[in-house]
Amino acid sequence: MDKKIFIGGGGPDYGEKQGLALGYANRHGLIAGATGTGKTVTLQILAEGFSAAGVPVFLADVKGDLSGLAKSGSAEAKLHDAFTSRAAKIGFDDYGYAAFPVTFWDLFGAQGHPVRTTVAEMGPLLLARLLELTEAQEGILNIAFRVADEDGLPLLDLKDLQALLVWLGENRAELSLRYGNLSVASIGAIQRRLLVLENQGGAGLFGEPALDLADLMRCDGDGRGRINILAADTLMAAPGLYATFLLWLLSELFEELPEVGDPDKPKLVFFFDEAHLLFDDAPKALVDKVEQVARLIRSKGVGVYFITQSPADIPEDILGQLGNRVQHALRAFTARDRKNLRLAAETYRENPRFSTEEAIREVGVGEAVTSMLEKKGVPGVVERTLIRPPSSQLGPITEDERKALLAASDMAGKYDNPLDRQSACEILAQRAADAAQAAAQAEAQEEEMEPAQREYNSARRYTGTRVTRSTSRSTRSTRSTAQEFGSALTQVVIKELKGTTGRRIVRGILGGLFKAR
Ligand SMILES: Nc1ncnc2c1ncn2[C@@H]1O[C@H](COP(=O)(O)OP(=O)(O)OP(=O)(O)O)[C@@H](O)[C@H]1O
Ligand SMILES: [Mg+2]
Repeated sequence: MDKKIFIGGGGPDYGEKQGLALGYANRHGLIAGATGTGKTVTLQILAEGFSAAGVPVFLADVKGDLSGLAKSGSAEAKLHDAFTSRAAKIGFDDYGYAAFPVTFWDLFGAQGHPVRTTVAEMGPLLLARLLELTEAQEGILNIAFRVADEDGLPLLDLKDLQALLVWLGENRAELSLRYGNLSVASIGAIQRRLLVLENQGGAGLFGEPALDLADLMRCDGDGRGRINILAADTLMAAPGLYATFLLWLLSELFEELPEVGDPDKPKLVFFFDEAHLLFDDAPKALVDKVEQVARLIRSKGVGVYFITQSPADIPEDILGQLGNRVQHALRAFTARDRKNLRLAAETYRENPRFSTEEAIREVGVGEAVTSMLEKKGVPGVVERTLIRPPSSQLGPITEDERKALLAASDMAGKYDNPLDRQSACEILAQRAADAAQAAAQAEAQEEEMEPAQREYNSARRYTGTRVTRSTSRSTRSTRSTAQEFGSALTQVVIKELKGTTGRRIVRGILGGLFKAR
């Protein structure tokens, strides 16, 4: 329980070692502070510490400056002297430079291995939030997922969902009887939202091979945890996509990982940079769910650390769960700043040596007011801590260095090439082709008939009852053609259904974890 990650020096002369206890690292954390106060470097040294302790890390690199984790720092670097004197001041005797095992990921597949999930795995609730759908539109999306499940239409990428929506529109008269009203306007609205998502580059997120969570939880040959860096600089232009993806990842982790109680050290630590994006304009129900998942995911051994400028960016219920805190300097220009600062200070256990509020205002760059969980998970008395210097390179690696790392990565073969297997889009196209062929055949047969017979048939066709019956029969025959076609795909579809059914049951238990409205 006592193993700690070294974070810096506290006490009157910064000589008292401060650490984050690995046994409580799954009780979450906060890194806050104004621009340029040292948040990113703190994230960097925490990632180094976790990795060295054998804990895999996932982090989003918002400004592109964390790729340096993959490369050793250097005595030639500009800040070498500053780093070594800082290390000496805090009693960091074995300070040295080192590179860490990094895997790069990118939703757009440019700066890292592509991260994908399937539409089915994302589920209607998160997708509705991602697309900012209204309640009526969300209802239609739910129907689409039902139909896909019942008809064995795997929803893998956006094309599948688009094709299914077209099919729903075409067959809405029949489907409305079973599922309720399917308005063309709402279907059209969803299609337009899907186009917007495509234009934001979201299409790349959906497809296969989908991310295997186990690939985020690996260690290297020396037992160091892998640091997974998600390129998030372009993602920032699409904050909805960013937030939804990270929420999806958290919910998947929650669903797939076993309970571990209180582990010696976390299974994975997750750093959520620019955390305010998650909560800006978020409906109360969503905030509640994030609060809930944060509370529950702890017992799966996952620690979540939020990084943001002001603690006020984070809803109170969630803030209350962030046990390990590194508070860099906050500004106090406006009355509101001062109020936030006072509120931030109030959440700490006072240190008789100084005023917390003043300390938060005064701490220098790379210095912070810290409080970590101690024995029995009680927050420690607040300290003024000079944060340790990083061992890896400060600032980004070059494009060539990144390319070399990507090419050498063992994830390249697994994810770099997309896979396009038979799914809803192709099956529906086949259905339409089969129906067209059946119609052409019927027409050809009719051509061969005697004129009298043809006349009799066409008269029959124009009586009301016959029309409905023949329509329903033709739909049924299209269905059965699709089913026959489907049986050729039995292996694929059964595999898919097994997967989704299992997941659906888990999602059911969660009761719509991320239902946004
Ligand atoms: N622990 C540290 N050891 C040594 N130098 C540090 C440390 N923390 C911060 N610095 C110095 O301060 C600079 C700014 O820190 P950093 O980039 O972490 O700030 P930030 O809070 O992330 O800023 P922004 O809000 O702009 O992202 C660093 O480039 C580095 O020179
Ligand atoms: Mg930063």
